[in-house]
Amino acid sequence: MDFIRLSAERYSVRNFEDRPVTDEHMKILLRAAVLAPTGCNYQPQRIYVVQSEEKLKKLGEISRCIFGAKTVLVFTYDKTEDWKNPLEEGVHTGEQDVSIAASHVMLQAWELGIGTCWVNYFSNTRLEKELGLPENERSVLIMPMGYPSKEAKPLPMHSEYKSVEEIVRFI
Ligand SMILES: Cc1cc2nc3c(=O)[nH]c(=O)nc-3n(C[C@H](O)[C@H](O)[C@H](O)COP(=O)(O)O)c2cc1C
Repeated sequence: MDFIRLSAERYSVRNFEDRPVTDEHMKILLRAAVLAPTGCNYQPQRIYVVQSEEKLKKLGEISRCIFGAKTVLVFTYDKTEDWKNPLEEGVHTGEQDVSIAASHVMLQAWELGIGTCWVNYFSNTRLEKELGLPENERSVLIMPMGYPSKEAKPLPMHSEYKSVEEIVRFI
């Protein structure tokens, strides 16, 4: 699909069919995440594929934005592996690296007919503790995903875009 069309048609899906993403589709999505560019190509992004009833239930307690999805990805980065900017104290690329990988997954998913929702509405600390993530990893987002149900539709704000003039400055 043409990229601009895909970007315009994609919307955050919050209503899914009652089945997980197939293994065949998951393989493609994870490949898209691996192919994402990262700072200095250090590839600190980590992805947890959650499909067990037990862990999905736990995620549902941690965030109200799971939307009954049967597959949820948890995106983290390894704090010891991301690129640290030597020219700016405290600036490092982990969140950016993860965001690019997650965007690849989100857009590849749409091309496969899979809906996703980028979710930040949770306590990172609680998530990391309750999923037993390694000390050296920081969570960035979770992504419920699945095949959109018949009832799935974009929220009105989906199509409220600022104009190019409002967000771009030629300097
Ligand atoms: C960084 C980020 C955080 C978000 N967090 C949430 C969230 O916690 N819960 C939710 O339902 N949607 C969340 N969203 C989805 C946005 O609300 C949605 O992308 C935005 O309203 C535009 O709508 P659209 O994705 O349908 O085009 C998030 C999106 C981004 C990019």
